[in-house]
Amino acid sequence: MTKILVTGGMGFIGSHTVVELIQAGYEPIIIDNLSNSSIKVLDGIEKITGQRPYFAQIDCQDKEALQQVMQEQGPISAIIHFAASKAVGESVEKPLLYYRNNLVSLLNLLDLMPSNGIEHIVFSSSCTVYGQPEVLPVTENAPIQPALSPYGNTKQICEEIITDTAYANKQLHAILLRYFNPIGAHESAEIGELPIGVPQNLIPFVTQTAAGIREQLKVFGNDYNTSDGSCIRDYINVTDLAKAHVAAVKRLTEGLQKKSVEVFNIGTGNGLSVLEIIKAFEKVTGQKLNYAIVGRREGDIEQVWADATYANTELGWKAEKNIEETLLSAWKWQEKLSQKSKV
Ligand code: UD1
Repeated sequence: MTKILVTGGMGFIGSHTVVELIQAGYEPIIIDNLSNSSIKVLDGIEKITGQRPYFAQIDCQDKEALQQVMQEQGPISAIIHFAASKAVGESVEKPLLYYRNNLVSLLNLLDLMPSNGIEHIVFSSSCTVYGQPEVLPVTENAPIQPALSPYGNTKQICEEIITDTAYANKQLHAILLRYFNPIGAHESAEIGELPIGVPQNLIPFVTQTAAGIREQLKVFGNDYNTSDGSCIRDYINVTDLAKAHVAAVKRLTEGLQKKSVEVFNIGTGNGLSVLEIIKAFEKVTGQKLNYAIVGRREGDIEQVWADATYANTELGWKAEKNIEETLLSAWKWQEKLSQKSKV
């Protein structure tokens, strides 16, 4: 079976991708330092797929440990590199932690790939590289804007590191996936997002408010230049996003790439405002959300949504799930977490 090394494979997007890889007939080799996930995620993966994939608790900054897994588990056909620190606010407070973790992890992988015969890598990038685009929907050709946070900067620098490395090493082929806002959970509610502490992202805050864990959702601003004044984002279902990784691996391993580094926007192509999300959530779940409009959050951009045409046509991938089923999946996952914490 084709083996795919999945760094950060126990995390939110990583675990959903592991499920989709298994269901597509690949053999994921998971490494994760469990800094922002739990060993229990493996049980969820096993319940959904009937398989318990290989897992090693390793930090990608530990080059020797990485080398050992590559050697023992090889041959590996491709790497999907999720392992990274991802909290925007924390990155402003602890920039060195973010630069060290996110950059060193990638450097180690790129260093080890040639000697282990690995030629393909899929990298988790973000729409944050576009800042506030001048033209919407935003295409992959839009200019990269100065990053608003160290987190965003690591995504830009990692894209450059991969591009420069592929230029120097003609064997290396990479796909950079620029995610929009990943939300939801697996439809089985066996895996989902596990935010530690107070969630910073919208949907976990919404579900925790509905579950009574948080008292009130704060809507950051209703004075933006949008239809209802709240910010607009492109919310992409995490299972759909996971499938984009399988499509990227397939493209790489089957030699279908047109360039050594390809970039794809992974979004639905639809923008939704914060207030529209609240309304949709209330409608599908029947829950009344306690929310209040407050001032803008520093660093937020006004509106962004994807032009995903290139992924649709070239990658053969398209977002399939609608916002209602996605929000319902997030709510079912929250209900399950709440039940577990009661036992
Ligand atoms: C940010 C990053 C993105 C990163 C993601 C994951 C930027 C521009 N974007 O996305 O790159 O991958 O975090 O950490 O840096 N909101 C509220 N109340 C809340 C929480 C959020 O109103 O309690 C609003 C925000 O103002 C925003 C929307 O909900 O308009 C989505 O926010 P969030 O889920 O935090 O994601 P982004 O900021 O879009």
